[in-house]
Amino acid sequence: MRAAGYTIAAFPGDGTGPEVVREGQKVLDALAEGGPAPWTVTTYPGGGQYYLAKGREWDPESEAAAHAADAILLGAVGWPGATLPNGDIAGRALVLGLREGLDLYSNVRPCRLYPGVKHRISGEYRSVWSPDRVDMVIVRENTEDLYTPARGRLSRGGETEVAVDTRLITRKGSERVVRRAFEIATARNRGAPDDGVKRVTCVDKSNVLEGCRFFRETFDRVAAEFPRIERDYAYVDAFTQWLIRNPERYNVVVTTNMMGDIVTDLAAVLQGGMGFASGGNIGDAHGMFEPVHGSAPKYAGKNQVNPYATFFAVEQMLRWLADRHHDDGLRRQADRLERALARTLADGGSGTYDQGGSATTREAGDRVAAAVRSEAR
Ligand code: IPM
Ligand code: MN
Repeated sequence: MRAAGYTIAAFPGDGTGPEVVREGQKVLDALAEGGPAPWTVTTYPGGGQYYLAKGREWDPESEAAAHAADAILLGAVGWPGATLPNGDIAGRALVLGLREGLDLYSNVRPCRLYPGVKHRISGEYRSVWSPDRVDMVIVRENTEDLYTPARGRLSRGGETEVAVDTRLITRKGSERVVRRAFEIATARNRGAPDDGVKRVTCVDKSNVLEGCRFFRETFDRVAAEFPRIERDYAYVDAFTQWLIRNPERYNVVVTTNMMGDIVTDLAAVLQGGMGFASGGNIGDAHGMFEPVHGSAPKYAGKNQVNPYATFFAVEQMLRWLADRHHDDGLRRQADRLERALARTLADGGSGTYDQGGSATTREAGDRVAAAVRSEAR
């Protein structure tokens, strides 16, 4: 452990972001009880609502703190009507800006269905699959592709005639995200639920797109460094149905930015919904962890949303810090949090509205904090 503890910069952001980050902090506090705190969490304002109030997305000190922190915990950004003069969402600096600025080139999204969690395919609460059929990690490229800020409009006489987004796929961008996917497959202690095989599936549209052909070539080149991991391929359109029909086939999936954005939301349905989906924006030197669900303006201030995505983001953050700093104590804390989460879920689920229950955000957080306290260190 670091003498002074790890610095965590928290950006609650917009909408329901502050409500779930508050619960995340509660759980971190419960983990830290009874010993010297292994981390300090400092909260900074910013986002779309901040922009509407102050005319800027965040303060220079907050940006500096994000760059200096050992890890970043992000709530959510985006608020209706909060738009920058160029049309971008106000708050983009905190999410897309940090992905670019800190070179957070991989977006690592675990997709696991825990016992006790129901999924809602066809709009009904079900647990058709035994949970052990959904346990994969989707690794999404996070800095290029259609997200490259090489875009614009051509206007003549004040009227837009053409809009262009450029899809940029680079050797460097592809290589490092594919390598990250193979490293995750190597480090994970389990393969695909179906057959136990460690497998990385490359999801692309290489039957049509040149950028995807290049991405797949790069995948093959990097895969050659990992002979013990099976290679697998899927075109993104077919992948969407296989993902839902046979999730047990997938272990680690790697894909480009825009396709990854879409398929990870789809995959979240398999794990009980966006209320359980966390993501780590991970580069070589920095990591930013977040619940994937966004600011959900409709639910803001209602103390109603499911905070588990944030708890899983916190777990992912602690695990990443532990690996990075070879900190076994911290790894035990991440394990302890995961056991507490698994236990509360197995014992009645999250209880929140998205799971058909009536537990509030705070109550769900209290239960997890209590489970953490009763879970041995
Ligand atoms: C995500 C989000 C972001 C994205 C938005 C908020 C810019 O949808 O993290 O998946 O498109 O990447
Ligand atoms: Mn998304």
